[in-house]
Amino acid sequence: MIVKIDEMTEGDIDEVLAIEEVSFIAPWSRGLFVKELENRFSHNLLAKRSGEGPPGIIGYIVFWDVADETHLLDLAVHPDCRRTGVASLLLEKMLAIAGKGGMRRVILELRRDNDKALSLYGSFCFKEIGLRKKYYSDGEDAIVMALELETGN
Ligand SMILES: CC(C)(COP(=O)(O)OP(=O)(O)OC[C@H]1O[C@@H](n2cnc3c(N)ncnc32)[C@H](O)[C@@H]1OP(=O)(O)O)[C@@H](O)C(=O)NCCC(=O)NCCS
Repeated sequence: MIVKIDEMTEGDIDEVLAIEEVSFIAPWSRGLFVKELENRFSHNLLAKRSGEGPPGIIGYIVFWDVADETHLLDLAVHPDCRRTGVASLLLEKMLAIAGKGGMRRVILELRRDNDKALSLYGSFCFKEIGLRKKYYSDGEDAIVMALELETGN
């Protein structure tokens, strides 16, 4: 499978929502994605399948660069395409952008029971730095993870 990284546009939101809705207990709405596309701090990237097989969006990542910190807000991969390195590719792209922008660290929150994501971020050397009690609307706790970046300064 050949995977290309592209910028998300408003015309992509239907396909993105289809993945979002099968990926999360409390999926983001269309309005939230539209807001992100309008937010100047926000990066909204897609993973698109090209080459063999039906083309289309198979994953996406949303993150903010604020001051010297990147905040990962949303990341999901189509269930049929998981475990093929798509999320890793999106994370690598985010880290490249963060590095170019001189960011000092990346932070994210994830559900305490999200073992897949814990393992994914662990494979990128993110470390658990805290717990936000009842962070999600259904009362579940969030684990806070951070990755310190080498800024070269
Ligand atoms: C978590 C998620 C984004 C991973 O996407 P993915 O494209 O399958 O991840 P990758 O193929 O890049 O996996 C990279 C590494 O992450 C870890 N990992 C990913 N999925 C895993 C799973 N189901 N079980 C255990 N480890 C897993 C592994 O270390 C894996 O490396 P390996 O395949 O060489 O063992 C995907 O499962 C998903 O969309 N889940 C629902 C949404 C979600 O939870 N998003 C994260 C919110 S914080």
